[in-house]
Amino acid sequence: MKPIQVGILGIGTVGSGVFNVLQRNQEEIKRRAGRGIEVTMVSRRNIAEAQALVGDRAQVVADARAIVQNPAIDIVVELIGGTTLAKELVLEAIAAGKHVVTANKALLAVHGTEIFAAAHAKGVMVAFEAAVAGGIPIIKALREGLTANSIQWVAGIINGTTNFILSEMRDKGLDFSVVLKEAQRLGYAEADPTFDIEGVDAAHKLTLMSAIAFGIPVQFDKAYIEGITQLGAQDIRYAEQLGYRIKLLGITKRTANGVELRVHPSLVPAKRLIANVEGAMNAVMVQGDAVGTTLYYGKGAGSEPTASAVIADLVDIARLHTAEPAQRVPYLAFQHHSMSDLPVLPMGEVVTSYYLRLRVADQAGVLATVTGLLAAADISIDAVLQREADEVGGEGATQTDVIILTHDCIESRMNAALSQMQALPTVLAPITRIRKEELA
Ligand code: NDP
Ligand code: HSE
Repeated sequence: MKPIQVGILGIGTVGSGVFNVLQRNQEEIKRRAGRGIEVTMVSRRNIAEAQALVGDRAQVVADARAIVQNPAIDIVVELIGGTTLAKELVLEAIAAGKHVVTANKALLAVHGTEIFAAAHAKGVMVAFEAAVAGGIPIIKALREGLTANSIQWVAGIINGTTNFILSEMRDKGLDFSVVLKEAQRLGYAEADPTFDIEGVDAAHKLTLMSAIAFGIPVQFDKAYIEGITQLGAQDIRYAEQLGYRIKLLGITKRTANGVELRVHPSLVPAKRLIANVEGAMNAVMVQGDAVGTTLYYGKGAGSEPTASAVIADLVDIARLHTAEPAQRVPYLAFQHHSMSDLPVLPMGEVVTSYYLRLRVADQAGVLATVTGLLAAADISIDAVLQREADEVGGEGATQTDVIILTHDCIESRMNAALSQMQALPTVLAPITRIRKEELA
């Protein structure tokens, strides 16, 4: 059979990995796919850079549209990033009857509904394994491997940059800004690193996993997002003393009232495997009713790890290219006409447990007042840690830190209790609240 023809839009970090791995492993990939997979065109505005990467093995063009409009191209691989030009090119490729592979989680989390509808109408495939957790085949696992299960929750470390920052801060006591620069140098961070550190990138990925896990439309605008920029080194230390690690988790959970969709720093028991995922590595836990808990671990970013996922999609498309659209795996795991309208819950309705740190006056009765407010709100305390004032503020200090771990309660009730505690004259600084996930 004639090799399937591929065009890469944006031959940068991931694009060059795709090109190189396809060249290196072409024989083995062909034996799996049943036909050759050939990159015949690549685009990049900096033509000289692109030529240096591909030599005379593919045609290089500055204008990505030349690939989308070329009738000889069967599959367009979108690796430009962003949600403007990438969206136009993807929709144009679909309209031209081409299959699309993309690593662009921002694009699909925001415009997925429109893109999948256009692809469905045209009978073409849109594959996006690389968009979530880089080289880990989590989309395949959720969409196909776990298809027997009623999935209950998915929780993951799905942003390598923030996990790298948190690991380096904890291990080496380095400053946030120093570690962020290193993550950028290593190529983990997005073009705009605020997407990483503010939790937006993780929320893009979580939105896609949630849609596939529960058969709901992609609803990035309903995700609750909190990044790591407000985390203090002392909270990382206190969490450690209490037997926890702080991780930026993406959590999506099915409840009787709807679906939780949230990204925020979380205390995770240090004994859990996922708490020990360090550096830029990613890990995703999935809880299914039949299989129980499963854990997927690997490189969530980088040129060749991400290329590994892009090429897996290319092989799938090469195999299914001639199949009837109805016989292919649905984009979001559930048949197009069988999506659920389960609502995404507002954060106030989420039930979880908490770590609270209060900077208080070192006076008699302060702890009793604070715990009294929690008791009045029917919030049960799991553990309390009070530091000696000298240890916190030096000799003669008159303030100290009180750390409280709570049992589960609904977030709206915790918000009300926090407002009351914050108003106490003996509470001397904004209270730190970090959610806690046992992931049992
Ligand atoms: P890069 O910035 O390294 O590559 C993007 C490429 O697109 C550049 O080579 C750029 O080159 C080219 N480009 C930009 N605008 C145009 C245009 N108008 N026409 C043609 N080419 C263009 O990004 P990455 O490879 O890191 O990321 C690509 C996608 O993969 C993003 O969506 C990202 O979120 C996603 N991703 C990245 C991962 C990673 O580890 N890096 C992991 C998982 C997903 P030039 O400026 O010369 O045009
Ligand atoms: N910026 C992303 C990360 C790249 O740090 O995980 C992979 O999607």
